[in-house]
Amino acid sequence: MTNPLSHLTSDIRDGNPYAGETISRGIEYDRFEASTHYINGSVFSHPYRAGSRALVQRVQPMPVISGKEWADFGCGTGISTLELAVQHPTFMITAIDASPGMLELAQHKFHKPFAESSSLGELRNVKDTALKKYLQEFRKESESYHVNVRFMLGDLRNHSFISDESLSGAVAYQFVHWMDKEEGGLLKFFKDLHRMLKPGATLAWSTAAHWLGNYGYDKDVYPRGERWFHDNAFKYHFLDELAKRVPFTANYQPIKPPHTFNSVRDITAQAGLVTEKAGMFYHDYDLGVFMTNHIPGIARDIITKGMTADKPMPEEEQQRIINECLQACVVNPKAMGDTQRKIQFVPMFTTTKQS
Ligand SMILES: C[S@@+](CC[C@H](N)C(=O)[O-])C[C@H]1O[C@@H](n2cnc3c(N)ncnc32)[C@H](O)[C@@H]1O
Repeated sequence: MTNPLSHLTSDIRDGNPYAGETISRGIEYDRFEASTHYINGSVFSHPYRAGSRALVQRVQPMPVISGKEWADFGCGTGISTLELAVQHPTFMITAIDASPGMLELAQHKFHKPFAESSSLGELRNVKDTALKKYLQEFRKESESYHVNVRFMLGDLRNHSFISDESLSGAVAYQFVHWMDKEEGGLLKFFKDLHRMLKPGATLAWSTAAHWLGNYGYDKDVYPRGERWFHDNAFKYHFLDELAKRVPFTANYQPIKPPHTFNSVRDITAQAGLVTEKAGMFYHDYDLGVFMTNHIPGIARDIITKGMTADKPMPEEEQQRIINECLQACVVNPKAMGDTQRKIQFVPMFTTTKQS
């Protein structure tokens, strides 16, 4: 296995592994997408694309709603955006993301100009053949849709980008949990969604499995188990290493789900919206991606929320400790030995503004 630390480009800002100014953030995200195949019946697809396809299939445009304005919240490198455009080629899509690095790659993939010349250099330097082929194919497919899509850079927690009752629908693939970073953030997001949606319009969204108890479903339907990628020997060894370096409270549970389906449904109801379950999607998950995308976020969460010390730890110090713990784990055969096939569960929901 190649050294997973060489991919650790995230600056762990807000615990968001996708944050970052440079296009390398987007490139890392797509490297996983390009190198992993999901098999659905006889059809091969990449995992985020297949998940986005399943999600977009959950919302059909309502004939009673006029207009074609749709949004893709947390569009990342444009994977969900392309799926929305392919299934609905007449839509005009506003795709929004807070990470300049993710958005630059999305712009490249949709033949849009972007400012940073250094990014072009990074793109030319991509050696990974699977990723190169993936990017070429994506660009070929997106060519006929690029006029239907506009990208916007911005933090959806703090800004309103879209005018009142202008959206005929929206999607958000693996995004809504990011709105729950601050107390009341989720309600704020859903209130803003209520403002943006036309009456009768729906947001189809999927979210991180660790954010909802039992993935938001009954535990008999989707039991948590050792196949879930979070249940990984690497994580437990990493937490042991972290505990040697930071004094976190013994009973702190870094990935205790903060919500259930009912709590989320109640929050959306407070915003005047109706939320329903829309099914589950799963795909394979890779240990290297887990280490580089998730472990730093979990560690930061522990360091900021679960520490016994009252003084906040500077970011550079956090990053140094996280790197040290990762280094200790990658040379520990017990931490690296859990090579079972792991799965990401992707629960999906619809949230509708009643007409
Ligand atoms: C898992 S990625 C999903 C990307 C995309 N939907 C896809 O289909 O691959 C989550 C995205 O949400 C974005 N995000 C997180 N917090 C955000 C915020 N406050 N405002 C806007 N975007 C945000 C991240 O930058 C990241 O690109």
